[in-house]
Amino acid sequence: MEYDLKFSITLSKEADLEGIEEEIKKLGNFELKEFRQQDNKIFIEIVSKERRAHEWALRIHKKLAMLLGKRRVGVREMMLNEYTIKIKLDKKPLKSVSIPFADLEFKDDVAIMKIVDKEEEFMRRNYVDRMIRLLKEKIEKQYYEGKKEYWQLLWKSEEKEPVWNGDPSEEMQKRGWIKLLGKGKWFYMPPAAAIIRAMEKIALQEVVLPLGFKEVIEPMHVSFDTWLKTGHLEGMPGEIYYICEPKSRDEQQWEHFIDLVKITKEVPTDELLKNLKPPKEGVVYAQCPNIYASLAGKTIGEDALPLLLFEHSVPSDRYEAGGKHGIERVDEFHRIEVVYIGTKEQLLELREKLIARYKHVFNDILDLEWRMARVTPFYMQQAGIVGIEEEEAKGTIDFEAWLPYRGDRSKEWLEFQNISIVGEKYTKAFNIKGQRSTLWSGCSGIGLERWMVSFLAQKGLEPENWPKSFKKYLAELPEMPKFL
Ligand code: SER
Ligand code: ZN
Repeated sequence: MEYDLKFSITLSKEADLEGIEEEIKKLGNFELKEFRQQDNKIFIEIVSKERRAHEWALRIHKKLAMLLGKRRVGVREMMLNEYTIKIKLDKKPLKSVSIPFADLEFKDDVAIMKIVDKEEEFMRRNYVDRMIRLLKEKIEKQYYEGKKEYWQLLWKSEEKEPVWNGDPSEEMQKRGWIKLLGKGKWFYMPPAAAIIRAMEKIALQEVVLPLGFKEVIEPMHVSFDTWLKTGHLEGMPGEIYYICEPKSRDEQQWEHFIDLVKITKEVPTDELLKNLKPPKEGVVYAQCPNIYASLAGKTIGEDALPLLLFEHSVPSDRYEAGGKHGIERVDEFHRIEVVYIGTKEQLLELREKLIARYKHVFNDILDLEWRMARVTPFYMQQAGIVGIEEEEAKGTIDFEAWLPYRGDRSKEWLEFQNISIVGEKYTKAFNIKGQRSTLWSGCSGIGLERWMVSFLAQKGLEPENWPKSFKKYLAELPEMPKFL
């Protein structure tokens, strides 16, 4: 690395600089290439190899304030005039790459990042570090693009003969059990609702409650502040449903909008947007971020560990790619999410217990053909990070079921739930501490639509074909309303 920074400092008036340059040089290990006064400005150029040059600039600014203060000269703001950083890369870019605030040039394995004309804030807020990290990340990503996602089989059930090979969503639509209300958002009529609730009851009674998880209820809005900490706004800003508050409740403010609606019987979009504030929240994407936000800054007593919570009141919304999908790929879905916080050992033990419970459900109650695989962790995707956890203890396990209607069992599998241990990522981000222990955390998402579609795709829609163990939870289906 080599940092070459030209910057200037404004003074309250022209100053006597006798002996000052020598004092500045003594500050540390950098080369002072220029130190020149012109009117009431000092122009400085420094080159450094170890510490970042903008850090030196801040120190020089402080030192000058002290030295010139004694000579009754005020030291005002700094300006970054030109900052050239040579970064040695592990990997060369495969195609062009750009970074905000900078021009980039590449010579062999060196990137030359050039930044010009920035305010003092730019140096104070350490943007440069993040720009360098982003550059490396973007190059790294170019090497992953097109590569298959990491996937390693951990376990699979025996093969099971499905009772049919129909598409449950299509069949349920025909029977009127489910109805699309808006893109990717389904309305569940009594028979479909009963199946979802049966899945939920099984998950609660056979997995969540026996393991000691306690229920919490969270808001369905998530603040940007929370998603900045979890990384969602870096990882999937294009999948979030954003929420805008009205600028005002005042009817006068809305008068024109209301008049237009009354006359045209349409929604005047431009007029609407005029009455909305820019968003600073979105609809829940996964339930765990709000749970972490609720614990931010807390210290958890040792005897309360592991802390085991679950949420199942708020649906999750994701802006999915268009096209027609069944209930297996939706813009709004229902899920129980369990969150666990504890020592690494506690979480590893809990993961084994969770897996054992899930196995019992999928083998003995739903009687599914399913499998488990280690995959790229969701929190790396959600934070826009590429790659796979090095450490076995961390990471995500996906649970997948075969969907016979989509094709043969060599490839047509649906992820219907997951288990993750994320290490210290979220406990650190939200400053959640143990009395003595270092805390890890993790979560497991139980997607109810996905459980339902996996079950129905293999077992069909007729209760008489369902396993007895499932019928204990749902003996018969409620009737559909009669429509003429
Ligand atoms: N938060 C995790 C996910 O989004 C588990 O629900 O997959
Ligand atoms: Zn989660």
